Amino acid sequence: MVNKIPGMGALIRSLYQFKDKRLERKLFGLTFPNPVGLAAGFDKDAKLYQELSNFGFGFVEIGTLTPKPQSGNLKKRLFRLSQDKGLINRLGFNNQGVEASVERLKKNKGVLIGGNIGKNKLTPNEEAVSDYVKCFEALFPYVDYFVVNVSSPNTPNLRALQDKKPLTNLLQTLKDLNLKKRIPKPLLLKIAPDLSELQLMDIIDIITSVKIDGVIATNTTLSREGLQSPHKTEMGGLSGKPLAERSTEVIRFLNEKSNNAFPIIGVGGIHSPQDALDKLNAGASLVQLYTGFVYEGPAVIKKINKALLQTA
Ligand SMILES: Cc1cc2nc3c(=O)[nH]c(=O)nc-3n(C[C@H](O)[C@H](O)[C@H](O)COP(=O)(O)O)c2cc1C
Repeated sequence: MVNKIPGMGALIRSLYQFKDKRLERKLFGLTFPNPVGLAAGFDKDAKLYQELSNFGFGFVEIGTLTPKPQSGNLKKRLFRLSQDKGLINRLGFNNQGVEASVERLKKNKGVLIGGNIGKNKLTPNEEAVSDYVKCFEALFPYVDYFVVNVSSPNTPNLRALQDKKPLTNLLQTLKDLNLKKRIPKPLLLKIAPDLSELQLMDIIDIITSVKIDGVIATNTTLSREGLQSPHKTEMGGLSGKPLAERSTEVIRFLNEKSNNAFPIIGVGGIHSPQDALDKLNAGASLVQLYTGFVYEGPAVIKKINKALLQTA
């Protein structure tokens, strides 16, 4: 393990971190050291956030966490689509439960953390709100912002929670709880790239009426358009290059139709500085990556940040 070798953290930081005051972003009342974050799903159980931050990420989103531990779907459940620079996963929220992460987060020495929360597979949608509430309450002292994940394709029926009525109810409940805290935390919604324009208009309505802080666009897609790789027929969510254009389109749509009413974190197929710029130009304030980190390696973070300075 990298963290077990003395001096390894410092060595990695010296190779990969790129600090510059001009990269700082102030958003939701938080100061992000740079706008390039690690997307949810990589450090599901908050085991590696310190090491991942050493690679230069401005923030790390942990989770998706659920109240109870669960093992997720049967293996094999993650597929590399090399020709397409994509991944298909159907992990199904494998995680050790929110309390295990809380213990690890108590040791955090300054990494900016997003807490991505969901529901257990066996919790029916009618009772889903209570799962999100449990995760929200347990994580509250230990994360900087929250992400309500209703957009994973790998938990049966989860995406039905994106419909207007259940989503308004879920977000309003969390918002009310948040407002009771001495200092509320930013509350964001993570959405799927497969929503129609009508559904996206509903999302704008809900965000602006419940007044949550922002959106993460997008999660993985069910689309299989234009793929070459043998694994293209596997079930699950597709991420990486093939998702880039659609997620940028969703960001642009939300930004334009809402009249820039709320901040957006852009994610989906960022493998290069240009991909990050496309998301920012479409209206994102911050970006995240997962699959690009896998294919391009950690150097891509510094590359993006350096390029952002040149265009600033
Ligand atoms: C293996 C894998 C697991 C993921 N797990 C989660 C998750 O638990 N929660 C979540 O909100 N998104 C999850 N995602 C989605 C990513 O956070 C991201 O939204 C998506 O992959 C698009 O970004 P990318 O193209 O940079 O990977 C996962 C993605 C992958 C590839």
